[in-house]
Amino acid sequence: MRLTTRLLSSLVQKRPFYVTTPIFYVNAAPHLGHLYTAVVADAIQRFEKLTNPDCKVIFSTGTDEHGTKIQQAAAKANQSPPEYCSTISKEYRDLFKEFHVDYTDFVRTTEERHLKAVKHFWKELRDQDYIYKAKYSGWYSVNDEAFVPETHTREEVTNDGKVRVSIESGHRVEWTEESNYMFRLSAFKTHLKNWLKTDGVVKPVKFHKQLQEMVEDDVYLPDISVSRPASRVHWAIRVPDDEEQSIYVWLDALVNYLTVSGYPDDELVKSRGRPWPADVQVVGKDIMKFHGIYWPAFLMAARRHPPRRLLVHSHWTVNGNKMSKSVGNVVHPRGVPAAHALRYLLLREATVADDANYSETKLINTANAELADTLGNLVSRSIGSALNPRGEFPALRPALLTKCCQLQPTVLLLHQVQVLPEICHKHYTNYQFYKVVDAVIRALHMANLFFETLKPWELKKKPECQKELDVVLHVTLETIRICSIILQPIVPDISKKVLDKLQIPECSRNWTDCEVPSWNMEDAIHETKKIQGGKFVLFPRIYVDKSQKRTSAKTA
Ligand code: MSP
Repeated sequence: MRLTTRLLSSLVQKRPFYVTTPIFYVNAAPHLGHLYTAVVADAIQRFEKLTNPDCKVIFSTGTDEHGTKIQQAAAKANQSPPEYCSTISKEYRDLFKEFHVDYTDFVRTTEERHLKAVKHFWKELRDQDYIYKAKYSGWYSVNDEAFVPETHTREEVTNDGKVRVSIESGHRVEWTEESNYMFRLSAFKTHLKNWLKTDGVVKPVKFHKQLQEMVEDDVYLPDISVSRPASRVHWAIRVPDDEEQSIYVWLDALVNYLTVSGYPDDELVKSRGRPWPADVQVVGKDIMKFHGIYWPAFLMAARRHPPRRLLVHSHWTVNGNKMSKSVGNVVHPRGVPAAHALRYLLLREATVADDANYSETKLINTANAELADTLGNLVSRSIGSALNPRGEFPALRPALLTKCCQLQPTVLLLHQVQVLPEICHKHYTNYQFYKVVDAVIRALHMANLFFETLKPWELKKKPECQKELDVVLHVTLETIRICSIILQPIVPDISKKVLDKLQIPECSRNWTDCEVPSWNMEDAIHETKKIQGGKFVLFPRIYVDKSQKRTSAKTA
């Protein structure tokens, strides 16, 4: 019987959960906005693993390395394109390591496996007769790597005289006439409309509606040019059987999601558990058209499924302004005053539907108030030798808990911790990370109030109150344990530090391990457990020396 079950489960291989970030342009070093896209996707994949530990997760990211603007950036840096791409691509990998973006595959569009995938995909589109050759003319933006309809451009007067720019991106456009291969995007209007009828296929609703409006508007659905003359764009993949033409960089880039699935090698695809279609594709609002119109249309043309879901997020501004090299306000994640709190701020502050604003003051204040004070201090007090000299997570004595329960702060805390996992699960599923943090911080505020009300430092002084002291320590540490499990997708490093300190085994850090607090268990923890010894500071407060504009981290 057991053998049959095992045999069956090995035959019915479960699909992996596949989540993607866009691949990042290597024309400049990564900034705060790029990191945001990546940490949103990382939080999603971590939540999936937390709630579904047996499921295999594929989490892909990478770098978008072809095209004129990359070629121009390499020339400006006095490097060859391959050399330049490798340098910036590595900066992304280093950044992701530092900020715990735990991808399973990092794809570069200059890799051989990707070249193979793009050429194969092109041939599929061509063989289905969705590609044809034509003369093309229009306004082209090198910066956006896209043709822009005349009605979406306007004239601007600059120091160089009159120039035309894209209204949407503000980037300069140039009149371009050339012979190109075209893709029959116009043939997919009905298919795209139907796809967009699927409930929840684009999140949040605001962007779902915008995409639906776009596909109704023919301006977004002309046949599009999918190649450029190689004489103009030579840092690119050539069109199969036509060396004179380079494949449009967006088509090249979008195929990365198939490359990671093992495409076009069927055996490889099978061995990876047939990951495509992706479960969630995280993209910024600026590239929604490419992922919500072009990409599903390309896929449908190649007789493949469109993605199961697009999660579109808004942007980060800096002190109220759009981040831009020319304004000089680009925030580089590794250079901020409290880089170790940045991931927390990014997920704690932003809602995916609306733009969020970054400032150093906000970063420092949030880190100090919530990570250092609300969480860090509570951990220090409950494990510190002053109140907890034996260094223990004491067992719970339900009878004594009932005695403490007469006090309002205890009742409130016990209830909040009990409902917390369910509330946070819902927020995670809706990608509302800020609401997860709100709920956790509320529970921690209640735990702080509980601590202050029950005054464990007074209990400590009275030998007859040692059992009550243990109850206070237990309830506080249990709250901290549950909050730390819940926060893992948001701040994996900080959660790990706490859970390690409490000696919670790795196998007991899953979602199910936080669902029932010990005071709701039939057989509440009756065993006292040791916590890890040694000095412990979870998150040092950040102090700003205004006169020297320097910051330092100090233990409060
Ligand atoms: N290379 C394309 C994507 C191709 S995917 C097939 C690209 N790259 S990008 O480097 O310009 O942008 C990558 C991601 O960073 C996008 O999701 C974009 O929205 C995001 N961000 C860039 N600036 C941003 C902010 N200021 N704020 C938040 N995210 C932003 O587009």
